Amino acid sequence: MTASASPETKPHPRRGAAALVLLAAGLVVVSPDVEAAASLEGCGARKTARAGDACEQVLQVWGRWQRSGDDAARDAGIRHARARLEGAWTRAQRGVPACADATATSTDVFARMNSAVGAFVTAMDGSPRGAPLGPRTGRCRARLLRIAGRACRGLVRNEEARLEGNQTRAEAAAARAREKLGAAWTVANASDCLTAIGVDEADAAVERLAATVAGDATSATLRELADAAGVHVGAAVEPSHIATDPLYGPTLAAEFTSLTTENQMNWEPIHPEPDRYEFGPADELVAFAAQHGLRVRAHALLWGRFAVPAYVQNASSATELRALVADHVAAVAGRYAGRVAQWVVVNEPLTFFGDPGDTDGLDPTVFLRLLGPGYIAEALRLAHAADPHARLFVNEFGVEMPGPKQERFYRLARDLLEAGAPLHGVGFQGHLGFFGTPVPTGAELLEAVRRFAALGLEVEITELDQYAFPDDPTALARQHALYHDVLLGCFLSPACGGVTVWGLADPYSWVRVFFRADAIPLPLGDGYARKPAYFGSRAALIQARSARP
Ligand code: XIL
Repeated sequence: MTASASPETKPHPRRGAAALVLLAAGLVVVSPDVEAAASLEGCGARKTARAGDACEQVLQVWGRWQRSGDDAARDAGIRHARARLEGAWTRAQRGVPACADATATSTDVFARMNSAVGAFVTAMDGSPRGAPLGPRTGRCRARLLRIAGRACRGLVRNEEARLEGNQTRAEAAAARAREKLGAAWTVANASDCLTAIGVDEADAAVERLAATVAGDATSATLRELADAAGVHVGAAVEPSHIATDPLYGPTLAAEFTSLTTENQMNWEPIHPEPDRYEFGPADELVAFAAQHGLRVRAHALLWGRFAVPAYVQNASSATELRALVADHVAAVAGRYAGRVAQWVVVNEPLTFFGDPGDTDGLDPTVFLRLLGPGYIAEALRLAHAADPHARLFVNEFGVEMPGPKQERFYRLARDLLEAGAPLHGVGFQGHLGFFGTPVPTGAELLEAVRRFAALGLEVEITELDQYAFPDDPTALARQHALYHDVLLGCFLSPACGGVTVWGLADPYSWVRVFFRADAIPLPLGDGYARKPAYFGSRAALIQARSARP
């Protein structure tokens, strides 16, 4: 489905609405989209239930293999479970093309499920922590896999209840599945079954497996899952695309809870000359957000590296620049006061690689050169005066993992707070894997979020994308894991309120413009096809829902 999905087969709100208008006008025209939208929810529930069964079956197959060591029987069992899932999913989506489009393919699901189970088995094979496992090992592991299988089925099937709108039943079912899992592990543990894999790890592995399977099978949108988890998922957007691409606006409104102004609130476009403001495009985005109930993240008041007009770049004295900054912030933040949830007040204040240079790690932009390091606190105060309700952020790239740049960012945030500046949050941009740079694990990211949260700050991932290309056969699978881990890593901290991707879909990504035209950095692809990263993001949102307070 992912590469070949076409926008024509998508349920989509505006076309659905248009068809309803036709019906209301008395024309006997039933758009296939209306039918599709009507049955889509049932489709997700049916597929989710079958995926839950498949998850249990696969774990049992692996469990029997742990006892018997019979590779051929295992492979036959896997083939059988896969065929059953394929048959069930084909029936579930018969006559409802949108159903196929809203979920992963059975092949994708099966491959992901099987490799996750394989990883689970490998983890159990790791070097034992306690005494050697002895002759009962195979039986013991078979039992653990059976337990995991029942829990996986229970956790996945609880999505079915939620999709049917029965939240109470869903929560009760999930709680029951977790309780049974806990009790079963305890018994298994008492008989020395769990010497190689700890209870917590085993629990986490089952939760992850179940969420992966449910994220593939459900037809819920990112927006629905984010709302249920109480978090935001956002995209950076350009208003011109709303006008030129009929699916751009509806996709934004259906899938996301938040938008970031990709370019239109940067200094140059919004304030190109000292006495000229161009508010039109930014106004359009703010109006779109209001109309569709989206949160606005405004980007960015001061960004010394890009989109700085000549009259600012060439300011000749501190007095002149200070006056320009005061005017700019008052006018721009003031105009949108009350309508913007978060402002990026200063973007990329640090040097590119986090090297100290002779400016103590601050990027020697015109702001630093003329106003000194105090310009950041000054800008925060001006922004707070212009819009007292907006949450004020500084935003930086390359700070997701431990290292000198994260250290410098941390010191900057701490110093600003100590100086009494109205700083409410930090943004980790999350442009990941660029030019082969290592990507953070979920645990590393969570640790980074917690460090800043301990200062009392909110944290968001503000510009997530991955440097990925189709000539790498592992790209999509790695991207699935990356998006899952980044979203979950962030959302596991209550301080993380949102994750924003930098572009609505691959064709609109800056990576295609700046680096390579064939880049595939985002969860939605060409034709808005849902890529594995989209399903990985769903899985993370499903887990976030049960993990957050
Ligand atoms: C990019 C935009 O996506 C492009 O359209 C523009 O031409 C250049 O800037 N870090 C940031 C973003 O903070 O503002 C950048 O966005 C990407 C890197």
